[in-house]
Amino acid sequence: MTNDEYASRTENLTKRYGRGVLALDDVSIKIGHGEIVGYLGPNGAGKTTTIKILTNLLRPTSGHAYINGIDANRRPKETLCHIGALIEVPGVYDYLSPRDTLTYFGKVHGMKSRDIDDRITEVLKRVKLADWENKRIGSFSTGMQRRFGIAKAIFHTPDILILDEPVLGLDPKGMRDVRHMIKDFKKEGMTVFLSSHLLEEVSLTADSVIFLERGKVVDQDTVENVVARIQSNRNSVQFLNPLSEGDLARVQAIEAITDLVPKNGGIEFSFDGSPETSAEILAGMMTKGLKVTAFQPERGTLEDFYVSIMNSEGVR
Ligand SMILES: Nc1ncnc2c1ncn2[C@@H]1O[C@H](COP(=O)(O)OP(=O)(O)OP(=O)(O)O)[C@@H](O)[C@H]1O
Ligand SMILES: [Mg+2]
Repeated sequence: MTNDEYASRTENLTKRYGRGVLALDDVSIKIGHGEIVGYLGPNGAGKTTTIKILTNLLRPTSGHAYINGIDANRRPKETLCHIGALIEVPGVYDYLSPRDTLTYFGKVHGMKSRDIDDRITEVLKRVKLADWENKRIGSFSTGMQRRFGIAKAIFHTPDILILDEPVLGLDPKGMRDVRHMIKDFKKEGMTVFLSSHLLEEVSLTADSVIFLERGKVVDQDTVENVVARIQSNRNSVQFLNPLSEGDLARVQAIEAITDLVPKNGGIEFSFDGSPETSAEILAGMMTKGLKVTAFQPERGTLEDFYVSIMNSEGVR
């Protein structure tokens, strides 16, 4: 099973639809075993196209996609048993129940009736649909349908889970449910590759993120590094009393401070970002008799970061 260093990887993957859109342009990505990797990009970036190639629903124009080292488009039978996928339209019949649908699905996978029954009970419990196993899927809420889609994806115990926009359209509780499930899958050793528009949401589960724009990978990093990258070296300070011209000049004279500007009744400035300098600056202000009420780093948000990465127009 683990006959490759990576659970999945693509090599110079390119996809052109007909003579038109170049949906993927030389995409080479790597997904380590047991990792949660977020695949981020705006509408039309090529996320679903990549996922469809990995699951052999589409063939690439050139390049390769591998699952556990096996070419997903040349030897799909060998790769599909390793993958569980949730892609855009779930492809279930509204009038069937979860038990009926999964029984059919288990038979397609060549499982024995007894094993199918046991596995259905197990997966429906996992996705909190145990009480709904004989109800019509058509009557389910969006959150329940999504959880059922995940049950279907994990049914044949794959080791790689590929989720296309798993939280799209879900309410905060629904998003949290899916997030918890993803974290549990990782704990069990599964690899999870998920696409999304939402860096903030993905950063709560993923180990690393890949940013795709107009079919090209524009950045990739660990979530830890992304969070470090958005921490700026600007600091804001508020004082008990309004600063006089003289006070401002005294603060300005503190050596470690640069680019000082008055802001929101206080000041904002740059420094080298180290905790030592931060303590030194604060002490300097106190010695000059200034009463500091707040002293805090100015942080960029994950959303700002996402927008700065996707700096060109993105939409197509
Ligand atoms: N079957 C198709 N025929 C022609 N063009 C297509 C087809 N499917 C996708 N495209 C185009 O390929 C590009 C990438 O589409 P894709 O669906 O992979 O993007 P995406 O990142 O999943 O976007 P979204 O966030 O909207 O789901 C888009 O420009 C899209 O219009
Ligand atoms: Mg898509």
